[in-house]
Amino acid sequence: MKKNKNTKDTATGEVSVLVASPGRGKLEGGRTSRRLEGIGEYYFSQKLREIDELNKQGKNIINLGIGSPDLPPHPDVIKTLQEESAKPNVHAYQSYKGSPVLRKAISDWYRKWYDVELNPDTEILPLIGSKEGIMHICMTYLDKGDEVLVPNPGYPTYRSAVKLAGGKCVDYNLKEKNNYEPDFNKLSKKKLGKVKLMFVNYPQMPTGQTPSKELFEKIVAFGKENNILVIHDNPYSFILNAEPMSLLSVEGAKEVVMELNSLSKSHNMAGWRVGMLCGAKERIDEVLRFKSNMDSGMFLPVQLAAAKALTLGKEWQDEVNSIYKARREKVFEMLDLQKCKYSRQQVGLFVWAKIPSTYKDGYELSDEILYNSNVFITPGGIFGDGGEKYIRVSLCGSIERFEEAKARIKNSKVKM
Ligand SMILES: Cc1ncc(COP(=O)(O)O)c(C=O)c1O
Repeated sequence: MKKNKNTKDTATGEVSVLVASPGRGKLEGGRTSRRLEGIGEYYFSQKLREIDELNKQGKNIINLGIGSPDLPPHPDVIKTLQEESAKPNVHAYQSYKGSPVLRKAISDWYRKWYDVELNPDTEILPLIGSKEGIMHICMTYLDKGDEVLVPNPGYPTYRSAVKLAGGKCVDYNLKEKNNYEPDFNKLSKKKLGKVKLMFVNYPQMPTGQTPSKELFEKIVAFGKENNILVIHDNPYSFILNAEPMSLLSVEGAKEVVMELNSLSKSHNMAGWRVGMLCGAKERIDEVLRFKSNMDSGMFLPVQLAAAKALTLGKEWQDEVNSIYKARREKVFEMLDLQKCKYSRQQVGLFVWAKIPSTYKDGYELSDEILYNSNVFITPGGIFGDGGEKYIRVSLCGSIERFEEAKARIKNSKVKM
């Protein structure tokens, strides 16, 4: 059996720990499926181990890498969970389609914020976080060799889910000079016959680019023209963004679009694992055929508390955003120290910034900051080679942490 080794995927720039490929001999511990060949351990799980090690050596690393909200959910959400879970009759398996209470709350939320009508009985599927939905969609629609358009830079899970399902990723590049929008002229010239799905995500992670109505219309038109099912991943529309938008709000979108959404970022509930998939009844039924074979409905009190969260008003979103806004200013100051360039218009839970040309790539700068200043910042290359000249800073930390990170960087020997 081959040894484990570190590799760098040249297309994505993603650093992976590749686990040994399966041998044909007798069953050995750790022998993994061919499906896992080329699939690395998720970058962060590997990096967090390294950060743990550095912390054990007493380094006290400030981790500005991961977008896991540090603020709590609204107190009424916690209260609902507490009260509901104290009841004797809420502990059984739940429906695969989720509680009608949660589906109704999602439908009301989509109408209120996005002006989109969804039938709560047929057009909504609650998920255990939107990340699992990405995998379910790939397993539902992809056969070996089917192609999928994925954004570069983009959320790495699209790429790994496609590969795990046997599909092939076809990158579409998002460039700063095009406002991180797909180049549809270029895309239309590609051979698209084998493309079944396209992942899109606006506000875009990692670039923080907001969508325009025109962009959304072009995406839907592209899906229709090319008979491609478009999966819009929409977890950041409430973070620092004045105008939450759904791709499903485009006329006729349900014919070709499914949208993933999540309470992880919008309601500070990342660990609760509550997301949703919205779209035409036929599509929801198709994904449910796969999902119902994988897991069961979420714990009912979690679903009821999530329903409560979805009724929260603008005041609450504004309060959370005022905190992120103040933090973002600190991050801008920190990036100024590093001579990075960034857009002040970007939204979402991160700041995306171009590194100075004195660095080969974001990995070099990220490592230098980690080892010299004990601050971890994500290198943009993990989102695809289009992100190699960038870094991404998470807004999930207290103002004091950002002050401290800034001071450490200022006082360290980082070259710049
Ligand atoms: C673009 C994007 N999509 C989906 C997710 C997954 O979110 P969830 O917690 O709902 O699984 C993330 C989380 O970081 C994300 O950045």
